[in-house]
Amino acid sequence: MTEMRTLLEGVRKYMEEQLYPFQTPAHKQGRWVDEKLLSFLGKAPFLADLSEPAGLDFAEALEAAQRRARDLAGAKASFFLWNGTTGGILAAVLASRPKQVVLSRSAHRSVFASLALAGAEPRYLYPRTLPGWEIFLPPDPQDYAAGLDTAEAVLLTHPSYWGLARNWQDLIFLAHSMDKLVLVDQAHGPHFRLSRKLPPSALEMGADLVVESTHKLGTAFTQASLLHLGTERIEQHSVAEALRLVQSTSPSFLLLLSLEAAVVKEEEGGAVWEKTLELARFARQKLEEQGWPVLSQADLPPGVLLDESRLVVRVRERGQSGIGAARFLKEEAKVVPEMADQHNVVLLLTPADDEASIGRLLEGFGRLIQEGKREAAVSPPPFPELALSPRQALLGPKGLVPLAEAAGEVAGNLVVPYPPGIPLLAPGDAIGKEHVEYLTWIKKLGWQVDGLTSSGEILIYQGG
Ligand SMILES: Cc1ncc(COP(=O)(O)O)c(C=O)c1O
Repeated sequence: MTEMRTLLEGVRKYMEEQLYPFQTPAHKQGRWVDEKLLSFLGKAPFLADLSEPAGLDFAEALEAAQRRARDLAGAKASFFLWNGTTGGILAAVLASRPKQVVLSRSAHRSVFASLALAGAEPRYLYPRTLPGWEIFLPPDPQDYAAGLDTAEAVLLTHPSYWGLARNWQDLIFLAHSMDKLVLVDQAHGPHFRLSRKLPPSALEMGADLVVESTHKLGTAFTQASLLHLGTERIEQHSVAEALRLVQSTSPSFLLLLSLEAAVVKEEEGGAVWEKTLELARFARQKLEEQGWPVLSQADLPPGVLLDESRLVVRVRERGQSGIGAARFLKEEAKVVPEMADQHNVVLLLTPADDEASIGRLLEGFGRLIQEGKREAAVSPPPFPELALSPRQALLGPKGLVPLAEAAGEVAGNLVVPYPPGIPLLAPGDAIGKEHVEYLTWIKKLGWQVDGLTSSGEILIYQGG
């Protein structure tokens, strides 16, 4: 019997005992690897990149780490995710097996994939935008509630990429009273559980399944996330089984160690986030003194809440585009925003920031006022109508056609302009002339559009 150890202790033990691996991975702790990469990364990541540390009961150590995450979150069960929040969303929908889901059309691309894979029909809510800022508002709880007459589940994005949230407690209560499920994409809100000064967390509002990007707002490495089971409405083994369908059988120890450590770090509590909120308040005030409007709670309609650690700066105020401003900040001022849209730049502040990093940011925005270029806004068309179920369109017969000939067809895959990364076309959507024109235009402007071929073709449904 092996001694109970944490994942980190297991990896250390392997090194201390100087075990030699006749097993994968073939680089064998960095013995066979490109020298340039080795000298850049150092040996540590290769030493820890083990498939199965001897001296560790892996299942037991993983379970213990997950229990720690569960206890901290107050969940019924928590699962480490090594295929990102994307994997967690796929598993959440697969595990809850709804025939129809009510959701905002501005959801992340992984949500559309989950519906197609699970064979669930979407009942889309088309979000309104916030005038002036032109960002999507979370749909009204009543609109989700109205969808519950036919849908078996609600899928909420909480918060949005711009940090917008709501208190969904009444909706969740109503959904449960109708025996419906509530799944939450909390990719941008893992820190909500840690402080009352942030919007309420999905788990405390009673959600059934919650997926969080620990790599976005926790200390884990990119791709490492958490899935929490919040109630007993879905069985734990169904979630575990769904995860087995969508996750790799070879979890990276680097990701696992970083998740284990992220949970330990979370145990320090929310004080670090409260300091971040103070720093964000300071940055907001200074940016406003420079002449940049920064989204605040007062700009939002009643009921919409803001994660104030995130700064949404309206550069359109000075005739600039968010995308152009983000490019300037990166190339000239060497500060890299989280994302940008036509009107705004979104900046992520975390406990890693301090006055010095805010100083750099302010310097960058100071230069942007002087040197940033004015650029006309390109307004996206309204979302298309749904013509076919995402599953039929994604898994049915398909073919490529030149974008210019696609109006009137049904989209066969996701077409996602970056920024902001929200699908303009989802599988099953009716492609309109306005979508073709918009995609053609933004391609000319040099935006990245995921889902078109390099020669500008688009995949359409050809099932008749
Ligand atoms: C709202 C939202 N949900 C889900 C995801 C997917 O997360 P991951 O990249 O961890 O797969 C993202 C990623 O950007 C996101 O923004």
